[in-house]
Amino acid sequence: MNKEEFYNLVESRKSIRKYKNQAVPQDVLERILNAGLHAPSGKNRQNWRFFVVQGKKRDDYLQYSQKSWLGIKNILQAKLKPSLYEFTERFFFTLGEAPVIIFCYSQNSIEERYHTSIGSVYMAVENINLACLVEGLGSCTMGAPLEIKSEVDQFLGIIDREDYKKGELELLCAIVLGYPDHNPPKASRQLQDRIHWLE
Ligand SMILES: Cc1cc2nc3c(=O)[nH]c(=O)nc-3n(C[C@H](O)[C@H](O)[C@H](O)COP(=O)(O)O)c2cc1C
Repeated sequence: MNKEEFYNLVESRKSIRKYKNQAVPQDVLERILNAGLHAPSGKNRQNWRFFVVQGKKRDDYLQYSQKSWLGIKNILQAKLKPSLYEFTERFFFTLGEAPVIIFCYSQNSIEERYHTSIGSVYMAVENINLACLVEGLGSCTMGAPLEIKSEVDQFLGIIDREDYKKGELELLCAIVLGYPDHNPPKASRQLQDRIHWLE
């Protein structure tokens, strides 16, 4: 990949919220997760933990996704124009038919720096988003499951893990992914007040 291709790749990534009814092969999933594992992390602790949900379990999650919508809908109703609000509501109810959900957790003991641990997981999340792109997949990172964090922990069976019982495992986001079935416009980027060149 040359320089131009790299920047084009990064700039062309956008959140996909409508997916084809097409399974993602296991080897593709393994490659994109492996890209996540190559992210940098504080002290190289690799404190990300990924829980991959497909099939019936994915279908069962929809009721939780619908519940997470309740925590967000009022804020979005005030912010979005009606057509986009309806599209977003449908997305939460169906997850855009995405066949795969990756729940991303941080495994963090209390001696470790909390924010560093969070940052490390998100580094891996963006590697996964970009790997999706080169695989012809679309993805959408979702903070919405945090609205119903403990219910998601329970649904995934995380609560039975020893590290969870010690309070060391925390859900940070989910990534939904699959083959894209729409081509939304690129969300605008603000340049103003984002970068400060100091003398
Ligand atoms: C931490 C995080 C949480 C997000 N949560 C949601 C979400 O819950 N639902 C959703 O539809 N999009 C979610 N997004 C996607 C953003 O809305 C999207 O990245 C942003 O609007 C920019 O659009 P783009 O990804 O197409 O460039 C989230 C993105 C990030 C990074």
